[in-house]
Amino acid sequence: MTEQEFIPASYSKTIEKGVVTWESPSNIALVKYWGKKPNQIPENPSISFTLNHCKTITELTYEKRDSDGSFSFEVLLDGVQKDSFKPKIEVFFERVESYLPFLKDYHFQIETKNTFPHSSGIASSASGMSALALCLMSLEKQLLGDAINDAYFNEKASFLARLGSGSACRSIEGDLVVWGETPSIEGSSDLFGIRYPYEVHAIFKEYQDTILLIDKGEKQVSSTVGHNLMHGHPYALNRFSQAHDHMKSLKTILKAGDLDSFISLVESEALTLHAMMMTSMPYFILMKPKTLEVINKIWEFRKNTGLPISFTLDAGANVHVLYPKSESVEILKFIENELVAYCQNEQYICDQIGFGANQIK
Ligand code: DP6
Repeated sequence: MTEQEFIPASYSKTIEKGVVTWESPSNIALVKYWGKKPNQIPENPSISFTLNHCKTITELTYEKRDSDGSFSFEVLLDGVQKDSFKPKIEVFFERVESYLPFLKDYHFQIETKNTFPHSSGIASSASGMSALALCLMSLEKQLLGDAINDAYFNEKASFLARLGSGSACRSIEGDLVVWGETPSIEGSSDLFGIRYPYEVHAIFKEYQDTILLIDKGEKQVSSTVGHNLMHGHPYALNRFSQAHDHMKSLKTILKAGDLDSFISLVESEALTLHAMMMTSMPYFILMKPKTLEVINKIWEFRKNTGLPISFTLDAGANVHVLYPKSESVEILKFIENELVAYCQNEQYICDQIGFGANQIK
């Protein structure tokens, strides 16, 4: 697919008004997207586990209007007008307008809520942008007289979500999703996420992700600023080529169910992401002392018990604790007894691998 193929020829139907609702999950990257080119093109491939419980639910109400050349929309979070979300959505609309030429012909009410606590430090941009992209696709599908198939619908939804927030393109469908062209993954694309197309060992089905909310403070660095720090970064080229190597290695690991190699690769990715931030100019430390304490506790527990517990991080202080479901009784006991004390207000979220977005209405 090229970008051109996502531009619709013409719409066969007129739709005056309606409502559509989608719920879309967050995702956690195993190989991290960090660094992008213009138009939300990633510098390197990434792969993520889709989450199951951490979701955004978005209801889009649309009503036809006489276009005045601008976008017309309002945004509500948990039923309350949220004007601070508007600039990001305005930018999103500008980026996707040529692919959704109906945007200025409607007034939209975007009502959104998250299943995870607001300001928990969990990024809602992946779930939020993917939910909005899916709602807009549902309207486009009606305008096209339903003349698009599910594969195209999902691909374009992912393509649009990417233009809102890169990682959002990995939240549409599938338990493991790849984004970014890389030779070892057939069909991989810089334009949208694809379901991981190869065999995956049963141990990686029902994988658990317990998210420890270490610090719920405002993000120190926005992801856009963070990605930009990779331009001219002294280690950028090596990092991008490492991501390709990791994608290739992961293919073997996922097939074989090789947990030791999985753990090394995933933890190395998380620490590399943070190392990139620590070695950019300006530089940032996004971990907190408690993040490090938790990591050390996890390593100690793994050494003492031999259990396959590991961690990953996003661009912040929170820790995602990853483990197979078969070990969850013991590992959860350890988390509750030893790790929860490091969480702000003892807050943590038990999640697991999920399968993507769902239309609710
Ligand atoms: C560290 O997708 O939030 O979570 O494209 O600027 O919206 P934008 O960035 P975003 O970056 C996420 C980066 C990450 C790693 C990842 O999810 O792969």
